[in-house]
Amino acid sequence: MSDLVLSAVEDGVQTITLNRPEKKNALTDAMYGQLVAALEQGAVDPAVRVVLIRGEGDAFTGGNDIGDFMMIAASGRPVGEASVFRLLKALARFEKPIVAAVHGFAVGIGVTLLLHCDMVIVADDAKLSTPFVNLALVPEAASTILLVQRIGHVRAYQMFALGEPVDGATAAAWGLANAVVPRAELDAAARKAAKALAARAPGSLRATKLLMREAEALIAQMNRENAEFESRLSSAEAVEAFTAFAQKRAPDFSKGA
Ligand code: COA
Repeated sequence: MSDLVLSAVEDGVQTITLNRPEKKNALTDAMYGQLVAALEQGAVDPAVRVVLIRGEGDAFTGGNDIGDFMMIAASGRPVGEASVFRLLKALARFEKPIVAAVHGFAVGIGVTLLLHCDMVIVADDAKLSTPFVNLALVPEAASTILLVQRIGHVRAYQMFALGEPVDGATAAAWGLANAVVPRAELDAAARKAAKALAARAPGSLRATKLLMREAEALIAQMNRENAEFESRLSSAEAVEAFTAFAQKRAPDFSKGA
């Protein structure tokens, strides 16, 4: 495992840490690959009963690395072959419980991956946003179904279309998280949740999770989202959004689609 994604197993809990704090844990193609490898290891390791995902530094993750978006767009490589899609499929099919500990910024996939976690603990400083439309893209990770199911259409549409952050208390009130805790207590609270799950009957937990989630239906929706995502990545409005981010200015969408 590289030092950008850390994995450690203790007391039945595999802790996977996003470790690129100077870039707000923005996720590159290589990091997605390492996350997949960590999950694959967790899936087969009998010592792992529960996975706990967390971020190092002052953010959970700033989401997909925007420079990577530009590279994928320029490469013309199908989105379905990118490591991010392998990660999303692995998350959709993962059978052991996943707990997330979320603090600071959680952007884009930093929110949509939570929809594939079984328990989510947020800190009071959490700021969850899904600014796909601000980047002239579309949501992914089957979030066009899962976020609507979890928080309802009107809130989900607002999150997607406006991309404004939702704070930790609101995330918990809306059902995006099990609990909100003070920042200093986040790691302990998430570990407590993970350990509680690790002490339960693993076969029963697995069967319950499989009954609650239809992985292949979620992957079918991801494929639909990806087709749209892929065609949007190289659109003039997405190029403007990525360029604006690199130039640290607001995008100008006044020219229309
Ligand atoms: N892709 C690439 N770089 C990113 C990034 C991302 N998604 N998120 C953060 N970074 C980088 C910044 O460019 C900056 O790099 P620099 O120090 O070389 O300039 C560094 O991480 C610190 O981020 P900064 O923007 O200075 O921190 P902030 O506290 O002012 O804002 C965010 C944090 C997360 C709100 C802001 O970085 C942001 O909006 N990031 C993009 C989020 C996004 O749109 N993600 C894709 C979703 S689909």
